[in-house]
Order: sequence, then C-alpha cells, then structure tokens
Amino acid sequence: MSTLFSPVTLSTPDGDGLALRNRAVVAPMCQYSVDAEDGVPTDWHLSHLGALAAGGFGLVIAEATAVVPEGRISPRDTGLWNDEQTRAWKRITDLIRANGSVPGLQLAHAGAKASTEPMLPGLREASVPESEGGWQTVSSSVSDVFGLAPARELTGEDIEQLVADWAAAARRADEAGFDVVQIHAAHGYLLHQFLSPLANTRTDEYGGSYENRTRLVKRIVEAVRAEWPAHKPLAIRFSGTDWTEDGWTLAETVRLAGELRALGVTAFDISSAGIGRYAGPKSGPGYQTALAAAVRAGLEGTDSFVTAVGMITTGVQAEHVLVTGQADGVAIARAALENPHWAAVAARELGVPAEENPRATPLWRGHW
Ligand SMILES: Cc1cc2nc3c(=O)[nH]c(=O)nc-3n(C[C@H](O)[C@H](O)[C@H](O)COP(=O)(O)O)c2cc1C
Repeated sequence: MSTLFSPVTLSTPDGDGLALRNRAVVAPMCQYSVDAEDGVPTDWHLSHLGALAAGGFGLVIAEATAVVPEGRISPRDTGLWNDEQTRAWKRITDLIRANGSVPGLQLAHAGAKASTEPMLPGLREASVPESEGGWQTVSSSVSDVFGLAPARELTGEDIEQLVADWAAAARRADEAGFDVVQIHAAHGYLLHQFLSPLANTRTDEYGGSYENRTRLVKRIVEAVRAEWPAHKPLAIRFSGTDWTEDGWTLAETVRLAGELRALGVTAFDISSAGIGRYAGPKSGPGYQTALAAAVRAGLEGTDSFVTAVGMITTGVQAEHVLVTGQADGVAIARAALENPHWAAVAARELGVPAEENPRATPLWRGHW
C-alpha cells in the first residue's frame, strides 16, 4: 500500500475537509504565457494544467497569480483582479476537475521582484523599464538586495489597500472555481520581503521585531480566510529559511506556521531562499525536505498538511519522504513539466494496481 497514493483530507474551518485522491501535488509554476499582457490565462494554461490533472496528481496548483497588476513578476504573468480573468480561470478549473484532480491557485505579489523580463529563451532576469511596459515596483523597504530597479516603500495606506486586494482576489478565486488558495510568502516576493530582515528595514509596526515583520502576512491570512469559504482549505508557501542567521530563519518559520494554523491555514509548503545570493546547500535530491520535516514536527497534532518540495523526482523518492515522516505530501515542479503524467508513472512504480492508477479514464486502455 503506497502512502503517496493514499487519499488525504485537508482540514477546513467547517469541519468537513477537502479530500485529495493522493498526496502528489503540482507545485505552482509560472508559464509567462499571457501574450496579451492582461493577466488573462490562455489556452496554454488550459492545456498545461488540464494535462497535469489527467496525469493523476491529487492537487494541481496553478502558477503565481498576481492580486494586482503591479504584483506580476513579468508582464506575461497571470492575474486575478478582474472579471475577465475570473471567467478565464473558471474554464481551467472546470477542466482540472473534469480530469479528476482538485484545482488550486497560488495568489501572489512579487513586490520588488515584479516588472522583470519573463523567463523565456533569450531573456534575462532584469527589470523591464517603465518606457517598455514595466512599472514602478513596491516593497517593504528600499533595498538593493535584489539587483533590480529600486522599489518604492509601501506606506501604511498602501498596506491597507493591499490587504483588501488580497481578500478581493481570494473572493474571485472562489468564483473561478478554485478549491485551494495558496498564499505565496516564499522566494523573495513581497510577503517574504516583509518577513526577512535581509529586505525589511522598516522602523514602523511592519519592521524590526518578529511580531512586526510577520504582521502583514497575518493580516493577509485573516483577510483572505474571512473571504474564502469555510469549506475550502487555505494554504501558504514559505521559504523555510534564507540560509543565513541574519535573514528569515527556520525557527521563525516553525513559529509562524503554528500561529497561522491558529488563524485557519491548514496546508503548508516549505521551500527556501529567494532574497540575495543563494547561500544554501548545494541543491540535490530532496535538499529541502528537512525544512518541511521541522515545520511538520512543530505542527504535530494540529491536523495540518505539510508538503516538501525541491528535486523530488521519482515515486520511490517521494514515498520515502512520506514514510519517514518528513512530510504529509510532496510538491513536484520540474519533473511534472518533463512528464505531466508523473503521478501515473509514480503509481505504477510503487505497485499501485492498474484499476487504482489515478490517471484519467480515457488513458486506461494503455495500462497493459
Ligand atoms: C518553470 C518554473 C516556474 C516556477 N514558478 C513558480 C511559481 O509561480 N511560484 C512558486 O512558488 N514557485 C515557482 N517555481 C518553483 C517551483 O514551484 C519549485 O519550488 C521548484 O522548481 C523546486 O521544485 P522541483 O525541484 O520539483 O522543480 C517555479 C519553478 C519552475 C521550474
């Protein structure tokens, strides 16, 4: 009996929970494919996400999707601030569900790392000037740690608006048919820019102490949870550490996860880094799973779903992460790009009988 392919229920405030058919999750992955630069997902997103659902994953989390236009990493990112985007996402969530999976969405704001070139062939990670379709970025503080065009420090008034913007995007995510929203607080984007002293040098109630640096994330969680239906789980993604004692630490992640659990977050995905030069260990198979294990240990007894991510590439490796108690599920990114049917292949690898393989029914005939 495979743990990876055993069902799991993500807990929800209404007490019913949301069932996933297995513990293989597609990690959010930007596609830089909004050709019209209007934040509206396209046929590319439909086919890409639909294929991952058909390939057997229990939960498919769509890419970092900006809550406001200036929160996009690049002009070609998806967004969720208007009706047209909401309608376009609805078509995609319908297909993910029809193909047997659960549709999730990562809501995001890139802060100082917004307005950059899309990561497409021939382009580099650099700011797009305002004269070429870019925009003035915002952040916790003015900082040169990102090596991008300088961001403007958010005012208290901006922060009030931002909290409302996140809540509005969550409302739209519900209308669009998503069952899980994951708040992006990782990889050096806006919320991480508040959490980490490497980027946050504010002297007001949003900077300095742990309580102050975590205040914005908590306010956003509360505002989103208030809008997000009680039968739907709320998730968050953290960079578990900046890999330096001067930055955001694993101990702080563990503490914040516990505090957010009390505010209604029940799913946690633990990545790392994203601010300044990478200072972590050489990346290799499962190089971040220990971070997930620490968060999971801190949340013990709270009925939370903690996923590990980072160079998990085979069914056997994923099963090992779960049976050794490091995580409750695994998030898969690049291996799923290489093979959207990763979960179906992993199920076969782990000896799941063909009748129970999670791939879509039309693919059944190929089981022999
Ligand atoms: C093409 C691509 C796009 C990505 N976009 C996002 C994103 O939108 N949001 C996010 O949190 N991480 C993003 N990531 C990071 C992945 O979710 C994941 O954390 C990382 O690739 C490590 O997992 P892997 O070793 O399975 O690829 C992206 C990664 C790739 C390869």
